[in-house]
Amino acid sequence: MRRLLPRDPAPADPAELAPEDLPEVYAYPPDPGRPWVRVNFVSSLDGAVSVDGRSGGLGTPADKAVFGTLRRLADVVLVGAGTARAERYRGARRPTIGRDTPPPIAVVTGSAGLDPSLGLFTDTFVPTIVLTTGEAPAERRAALRAAGADVVELPDLGPATLLGELERRGLRRVLCEGGPGLHGDLIAAGAVDELCLTLSPLLAAGDAGRIAHGPGGRAPEGMALASVLEEDGTLLLRYVRAAT
Ligand SMILES: NC(=O)c1ccc[n+]([C@@H]2O[C@H](COP(=O)([O-])OP(=O)(O)OC[C@H]3O[C@@H](n4cnc5c(N)ncnc54)[C@H](OP(=O)(O)O)[C@@H]3O)[C@@H](O)[C@H]2O)c1
Repeated sequence: MRRLLPRDPAPADPAELAPEDLPEVYAYPPDPGRPWVRVNFVSSLDGAVSVDGRSGGLGTPADKAVFGTLRRLADVVLVGAGTARAERYRGARRPTIGRDTPPPIAVVTGSAGLDPSLGLFTDTFVPTIVLTTGEAPAERRAALRAAGADVVELPDLGPATLLGELERRGLRRVLCEGGPGLHGDLIAAGAVDELCLTLSPLLAAGDAGRIAHGPGGRAPEGMALASVLEEDGTLLLRYVRAAT
């Protein structure tokens, strides 16, 4: 993998990166003092977020390497229920760097309509956190609890409440893996600190959506380019919230 930006001739900042260099490239800020929301997506060049309803068709080895690295740096993987269902999520496999256990998956669902036999509940080293409300049908919440999930009934599922719950649990290095609905809510609330966007060298067309959808009405937020890596035509872009 090549580092295209930042360009720095210092030996400590090599242009050629090995997989073991990635954790340093993608390190979270040392102590942001609050949850830091990093969002990770892969997209085709023409903006498709899925092929045949899933993101797998967009992946490349470079994207896979960064996806795995981001999980190993995170305290928690935050994901919308639509993605957990479409991508057939299971628990993360590898421990977070510096810990003994992988990050829990925290899934956001208003309906609690998740199949308890999903790998999310049956194939995980740590209990999956289900972030829902008391409005979700009680029998669904009970079924998820019986499947081993840590079901949390929050007063609402707005980003401030979701992140407040993660912070309460000491989970500050947040990795949001989408999907577009949850990402749209986070953007609308001004809660995205960082976007890691893989551009796959593919034209997909079709009717796939883009990486965010949801409420508008907010002025577009400026993001600053933090790094660009490249491998075999795949661009790995990292943007952080621009200083205001
Ligand atoms: N290319 C990529 O990197 C990538 C990444 C992720 C996903 N995807 C693709 O995106 C598609 C899924 O899109 P999506 O928009 O359905 O994904 P999503 O954001 O994961 O799921 C939306 C669902 O999550 C729950 N949810 C999310 N935020 C909520 C909130 N603030 N309040 C209440 N409920 C909330 C709701 O579930 P309930 O209906 O249960 O209430 C909602 O229907 C799939 O095709 C997937 O493959 C692609």
